[in-house]
Amino acid sequence: MNLKNTKYTITAALPYANGPLHIGHIAGAYLPADIFVRYLRLRGKDVAFMCGSDEHGAAITIRAKKEGISPREIIDKYHELNKSTFEKFGIGFDMYHRTSAPIHHELSQEFFTNLYDKGEFVEQESEQYYDEEYNQFLADRYITGTCPKCGHDGAYGDQCEKCGSSLNSTDLINPVSTLSGKKPELRSTKHWFLPLDKYQEWLEKWLVEGKKGQWKSNVYGQCSSWLKAGLQPRAMTRDLDWGVDVPLKEAEGKKLYVWLDAPIGYISATKQWALDNGKNWEDYWKKQDDPKNDSTLIHFIGKDNIVFHCIIFPAILHAHGEYILPENVPANEFLNLEGDKLSTSRNWAVWLHEYLEEFPGKEDVLRYALASTLPETKDSEFTWKDFQTRNNSELVGIFGNFINRALVLTHKYYDGKVPQRGEWFDYDEEIIQSLSTYPDLIEEKITQYKFREALAHMMEFARLGNKYLADTEPWKLQKENPERVKTIMNLSLQIAANLSIVCEPFLPFTAEKLRGMLNIKAYEWEKAGSVDLLEADHTINKAELLFEKIEDETVDAQVKKLEDTKKANTAEKPKVEAMKAEIQFDDFMKMDMRIGTVIAAEKVKKSNKLLKLTIDTGLDKRTILSGIAKHFSAEEMVGKQVTVLVNLAPRPMMGEVSEGMVLMAEDAEGNLQLLQPGNKVNPGSTVS
Ligand code: 2FM
Ligand code: ZN
Repeated sequence: MNLKNTKYTITAALPYANGPLHIGHIAGAYLPADIFVRYLRLRGKDVAFMCGSDEHGAAITIRAKKEGISPREIIDKYHELNKSTFEKFGIGFDMYHRTSAPIHHELSQEFFTNLYDKGEFVEQESEQYYDEEYNQFLADRYITGTCPKCGHDGAYGDQCEKCGSSLNSTDLINPVSTLSGKKPELRSTKHWFLPLDKYQEWLEKWLVEGKKGQWKSNVYGQCSSWLKAGLQPRAMTRDLDWGVDVPLKEAEGKKLYVWLDAPIGYISATKQWALDNGKNWEDYWKKQDDPKNDSTLIHFIGKDNIVFHCIIFPAILHAHGEYILPENVPANEFLNLEGDKLSTSRNWAVWLHEYLEEFPGKEDVLRYALASTLPETKDSEFTWKDFQTRNNSELVGIFGNFINRALVLTHKYYDGKVPQRGEWFDYDEEIIQSLSTYPDLIEEKITQYKFREALAHMMEFARLGNKYLADTEPWKLQKENPERVKTIMNLSLQIAANLSIVCEPFLPFTAEKLRGMLNIKAYEWEKAGSVDLLEADHTINKAELLFEKIEDETVDAQVKKLEDTKKANTAEKPKVEAMKAEIQFDDFMKMDMRIGTVIAAEKVKKSNKLLKLTIDTGLDKRTILSGIAKHFSAEEMVGKQVTVLVNLAPRPMMGEVSEGMVLMAEDAEGNLQLLQPGNKVNPGSTVS
């Protein structure tokens, strides 16, 4: 890639704030983005690295509905957790913003209005699926069914995650509402569509012709096959109650499609960052008078986001007209874990916040293990065994070992001062020659988004240092030829200083620790490859271990944790009835529930289910028929306190009249329990 530009706008997919981050997220988008940005910064580039929480969309509202809490409670919790998890893991965003922020809502509405005023949208009244029980239109993740393209059963209303096809909910075969689990009906509603077919020709030119040979083949291939299949108009509005309001009078109650507002989140994040830091956000997003001054925009994402970043968002930016377009979208494939797909719902994951707690100080070990197995061209796999081997054989055995030897010997022989070197031997010259090539090799691979290979070169660089010490054996020479040892140690320390530069993109915590031990500042990338980074007599600090061996017990415990998850997933779960449709607070307040005491009980003749109870409700003494005869005898009910719905209209039953209802807990197998206060209370006590 062309590194001539000075400004870079780097984005990493905004994760939904509906759950914690796992290693799949990190390997998909965030670690590659962070490696790339750290490299750009070492090259002195002006970078805006943007991310944040995607707080709209069905992923959030469905979870909120299921848990009976508000979307706000969910997004606040996970926004904070994810923001701090990224920070602790060394993912150095300039801004971790939120799509619930007013500045984001305003900008998203401005985008919509801009396109609307230009007549870019097609208004269309169409039939959409509707869940009668929940009084809601169903689109995107509110609806699942069979994918018409690949036959996958769990496709969503906007996308099939199996084959990656972009769908409209009415394309699904056998659609089912994810809210009620029922077959939805069709109802008419009006929406504003972006006619993607209108941009087909432009996209073919910009992407198929323009990005050939530049974009990764997994990304380019997916995009070209979508374009080959022909693009369809896509609704940019939704009938939902959570999201950015559509800024049109006639669209009251409707929200913007989450995939319209989410990528605009990169821009609103930049706006906020610019406001906070005295910058001009337009420098990072808008076309400049001289195109040479345009910022270079790169989106780091996982493969399920390709269509949105490579086709829909560029079409929107193009339709707007003032914005730059992505130079590249180096999407990764998926990471698997111990032979299985990572899954939040099945808890099949290594959760980053848990890793950080269980492996304090080992952030770089996970960064290293993940970077060595990034799913760059195809799905890849993380295993704990590989994690252990990478740490023990490479980080400890090569990198750590070399640094430790170099620093310990410097303290031992020269009291921590860099020795003056003498003449280079031929072997030294060979090492210096080799050393000077590594920064370029690493750089070449980073700029081609081949981070695995870049990392491998970085470790070869450390291996070079390790080999140099092993081959020259200064500890054996010190007595007979101390002058030669000075040269060997000087070169070894220069290699260590080089490593502190080139390891920074991958292992930022290690780089910092190493700089501290060598007592040097952070050098720019262009200094890497030099053997004059440390002057003679410069004093280094105490040698500390950079990495520690990871024992079998530690990784075995992690594998066991996953095995337990698998067992729990396969064990039969108690069935739970689906939640009923939402009610308002006032509906609940209409119910008058009291604690009553059973003062008499008898079986109802001709019924094996009903007991006739006389209950002191505090208000009166009344008769209630309750279907509990199979679970409780009349005798044992007398004297018990129960919860009674006292304002239920009297109902005739088996020749008697029941004046209320005794409330029970009932599991899916039909087992009943009385709902009783923890301690005795006065009859008539209210329940609320
Ligand atoms: O797939 C996801 O997790 C989305 N929240 C990614 C959004 S990326 C961007 F467009 F904001
Ligand atoms: Zn499919």
